[in-house]
Amino acid sequence: MSKHFPRRTNFLGPDRTTNPLIWGAAMICTIIAIAVIITGLVVLIGYKIIRPKVPFISVTFAHLDKISYDQTGLLNTQITLIIKAENDNVRAHASFSDIKFLLHFNALQIAQLRAAPFDVPKNNSVDLKYVIPSLSIPLEPDAMEDVNISLMQDKISFNLKGNVRTRWRVGVIGSIKFWGSLSCQLQFFPSNGSSTYSHCSTKSK
Ligand SMILES: *[C@@H]1O[C@H](CO)[C@@H](O)[C@H](O)[C@H]1NC(C)=O
Ligand SMILES: *[C@@H]1O[C@H](CO)[C@@H](O)[C@H](O)[C@H]1NC(C)=O
Ligand SMILES: *[C@@H]1O[C@H](CO)[C@@H](O)[C@H](O)[C@H]1NC(C)=O
Repeated sequence: MSKHFPRRTNFLGPDRTTNPLIWGAAMICTIIAIAVIITGLVVLIGYKIIRPKVPFISVTFAHLDKISYDQTGLLNTQITLIIKAENDNVRAHASFSDIKFLLHFNALQIAQLRAAPFDVPKNNSVDLKYVIPSLSIPLEPDAMEDVNISLMQDKISFNLKGNVRTRWRVGVIGSIKFWGSLSCQLQFFPSNGSSTYSHCSTKSK
């Protein structure tokens, strides 16, 4: 290859005055860069001032009101649950929607808990109370044996699983959406119906 390239033509002309189009483009780029930096600062400062906290849902009360089964293997239970939706933000309203929780006994779904969308004001909470009468649940023989054992040991557990969507407006930052999920075991003493404490919250611990 030859080392002698033809001399490059100077596109800017001999007096090297910059093309106004290039100046314009440079100005626009500078303005965009400054705008991006300012937006970033505003979001950062807003975040520091407001300190947004993810609204969450947790089970604050669980009680086994009733549990019985008959010889044919039909299980009857009633459970009361209080689920608390909490918004710890002092400057932002939160809304909760798409609430759906499923209550299982063994592998059997015994209830579905839902709630219409609702708002939780700043620094506040809302309690959702569910009384879950499970209609007669037909049990397979081995599930029935589990119930027998559970009653003998005075310990029975149910599983609660579900999702909730939270949305809250954080001043200048805009609105933030979050999916929270809950998956926990509710354990009761059948003798008196009280539950043993378990951390059951969409908030990661
Ligand atoms: C938030 O609520 C708690 C009580 O629920 C209260 O003690 C606290 O002062 C409130 N904080 C603000 C900033 O309003
Ligand atoms: C469970 O216990 C009841 C009586 O307490 C008994 O009749 C039934 O056969 C038992 N079932 C199983 C599967 O062990
Ligand atoms: C219920 O019974 C369990 C075990 O027998 C006991 O540990 C618990 O304190 C009781 N709870 C209440 C509220 O009486």
